[in-house]
Amino acid sequence: MGKPRQTLKTLRAIALEHANVAHPDLASMARDLGQVVHHNSSAMATRLARLHQRGHGLGRWLLAQRTQVPVSVMVMAWPANHCTPVHDHAGLWGLELTLVGAVEVQSWRHDPDSGNLHPLGRDWLGPGDGTWFEGDQNHVHRCRNLSQHEAALTLHVYGGELTRYLAYEQAGASGIWTTQPQQVAVVERLHA
Ligand SMILES: [Fe+2]
Repeated sequence: MGKPRQTLKTLRAIALEHANVAHPDLASMARDLGQVVHHNSSAMATRLARLHQRGHGLGRWLLAQRTQVPVSVMVMAWPANHCTPVHDHAGLWGLELTLVGAVEVQSWRHDPDSGNLHPLGRDWLGPGDGTWFEGDQNHVHRCRNLSQHEAALTLHVYGGELTRYLAYEQAGASGIWTTQPQQVAVVERLHA
């Protein structure tokens, strides 16, 4: 069992190493990150307890950012029951992995001609499980913490800095999806 700080350091190093190319093998990255999470589950739970004490609402911390061969690594704390709007990732590739708890990710493909969203599936992510998407402007998803009582902690690796994205909303009975530009709230740096 590693210490929480050491575990985050290891996760960061794995993410940066895999993201050293423009189109990383995201399945391999998820496998290697997941292996570390499986071996350090209690350390991760300790870290969650400390992070979650810092505030309420969705917590977002920057673990690493690089501009040459762009990549950013973040840790997020999800309050019980928290659900995001349907949103895109501005065409960046991304990998999301559960550290503690259980998260559901529901994905769609946005058809730019009709404006419709076509379901791609749902992933149920326990500790060490990940889901990923290639750099695709029309990939959208919604994430939620499946626990009604406990916070969840997740790791996010993106192919650059996510500063703006689109949130999708379905308008009433018409069923038409509309988009609203969003800005990512400034994240605090997490030192590992
Ligand atoms: Fe997302």
